[in-house]
Amino acid sequence: MTENRFRAAAYSKTVSSGRVSWSAPSNIALVKYWGKKADQIPQNPSISFTLNECKTITTVSFSKKESEHEFSFDLYLDGEKKVDFKPKIHTFFKRIAQYLPFLKTYHFKIETSNTFPHSSGIASSASGMSALALCLMSIENLHLESEMAEADFNKKASFLARLGSGSACRSIEGDLVVWGDHKEVTGSSDHYGVRYPFTVHDNFKAYQDVILLVDKGEKQVSSTVGHNLMHNHPYSQQRFEQAHSNLSELIKVFESGDLDAFIGIVESEALTLHAMMMTSMPYFILMKPNTLNIINAIWKYRQDTGSKVCFTLDAGANVHVLFPKKESDSVLVFIKKELASFCQDENYIIDHVGFGANKNDI
Ligand code: PMV
Repeated sequence: MTENRFRAAAYSKTVSSGRVSWSAPSNIALVKYWGKKADQIPQNPSISFTLNECKTITTVSFSKKESEHEFSFDLYLDGEKKVDFKPKIHTFFKRIAQYLPFLKTYHFKIETSNTFPHSSGIASSASGMSALALCLMSIENLHLESEMAEADFNKKASFLARLGSGSACRSIEGDLVVWGDHKEVTGSSDHYGVRYPFTVHDNFKAYQDVILLVDKGEKQVSSTVGHNLMHNHPYSQQRFEQAHSNLSELIKVFESGDLDAFIGIVESEALTLHAMMMTSMPYFILMKPNTLNIINAIWKYRQDTGSKVCFTLDAGANVHVLFPKKESDSVLVFIKKELASFCQDENYIIDHVGFGANKNDI
């Protein structure tokens, strides 16, 4: 069983207290994960670009406590104690305790902050859960005679992050990560993300992502609710099969550098994700009028200029504008002149593909 691989070997060192810190990025899916089985097992494989600038920075201080009956932790966001985040962390700790036997032996102070504004409508769960999983892995390392090999460390960190928030397992490494069993992707697994193992054409190196903040409010539908709506969904089976075939197509596209084919797959995936929400029961429309205004403006710009800019969406109204590095100057002018006015307070975040999480010196 895969899970057994991640149970800790006996700890050979005792550690009374310490402090570790990691920065972990957000990611943007090209083939979307939407629908899960028990224990955060995805219904279909997904692939994402790891981002570079949108990150969570988490520092965990830990000290031995008397009783080992309960979890004990406090969480601070930007220096402010947050009790409303505690249930999510508590659930996460419960799910991962069997893989990290030290969890009940310490009190943890978890201090976290995001490089993107909290109220941006950008989900911080992927970067947040991966940063926390990495901190816990560093604490596990302190208990071992010799540190884990990097590949094993990353795999277990991704495995743990998945149990916090599915897409978080794609935020450990970069620049392209696959999560979910796919027959053509060597090493792919439902249990953790793996770096995309095949050739990637230069067209996709340092790909740009500008996140247009159309709606900075809280998500209208939590992703947990959304995933659950894929149970008994009339189109779910076809959708899961489509994700497999879109990933197969993307393998060819990454090799050939065919940007038109890339655009077709990525935009169709985004609209399919929203189509699933619109056709579930209950049904939701998460796009806003300005989401559609932006999509139409991107299509017009592409037609007028031959640009290879395209869009993708998360489970919300914000738009990720994706484009090759060599188009940076022109597309940034287009965004400033023609798309910024569709954003709340004209706000957008300029990002690009990155290479994963980093341990911070403290
Ligand atoms: O990780 P979750 O449970 O928040 O789900 C995220 C799902 C999407 O962002 C909509 C798609 C994806 O693959 O990231």
